Amino acid sequence: MILAPSILTVKEEERNNTLQELYDLGIVYLHLDIMDGKFVPNTTQGVSLLKDINSFDFVFDTHLMVNDPINYIKEFADAGSDIITFHFEACTNVEEVINTIKSYEIKCGISIKPKTDPKVLLPYLSKLDQILIMSVEPGFGGQKFMEDSLEKIKYFDELRNNNDEYTYQIEVDGGINLDNVSKVRCSGANIVVMGTALINSCDKKNVISKVEDL
Ligand code: DX5
Ligand code: ZN
Repeated sequence: MILAPSILTVKEEERNNTLQELYDLGIVYLHLDIMDGKFVPNTTQGVSLLKDINSFDFVFDTHLMVNDPINYIKEFADAGSDIITFHFEACTNVEEVINTIKSYEIKCGISIKPKTDPKVLLPYLSKLDQILIMSVEPGFGGQKFMEDSLEKIKYFDELRNNNDEYTYQIEVDGGINLDNVSKVRCSGANIVVMGTALINSCDKKNVISKVEDL
């Protein structure tokens, strides 16, 4: 399966070294967490983060945890996002956000928070390249994986298996480590985000190969 490292907890002065290390270890997807201090109680760099690092040759998997994501799409598309995922809970016109992302010919994902009913995404499934299931409350790295997210992964995997129109990837984000990643994979996920468990590991190569072999 695909491992998309989150660099949320990496300090700015260590960022380039960490990115080079991840690149040298064969990482393809890089997960960028963008927070506005309103949709979530934490703030990060905005599009300047992507501008600072877009000389690296990663697939930039951009996770917008912001209100009114429609206002951010153009700047992230122009700066090199390959996938933009926004939160269902953060906007009033979901369809409009999907169409705007697609107008830049990049991939479109929607994310749902742990307490959101997965059925809310049913009207949009045939248009999505990715569903991002949050397995923690969004906002911070280092939280504990919520077991009930496994049911949501299975729900979307089953829908996909029974409908040829659905081609989305299932990505899971929050609290993933080597102890729980197998059940996330077995439930049907294709991509896992890993922050703390990878970044704090003294053997990143081992973590990456174990996840990628699943
Ligand atoms: C949380 C972010 C995650 C987080 C993952 O709101 O969306 O991407 O940084 O970090 P860990 O793996 O530490 O939960
Ligand atoms: Zn994220």
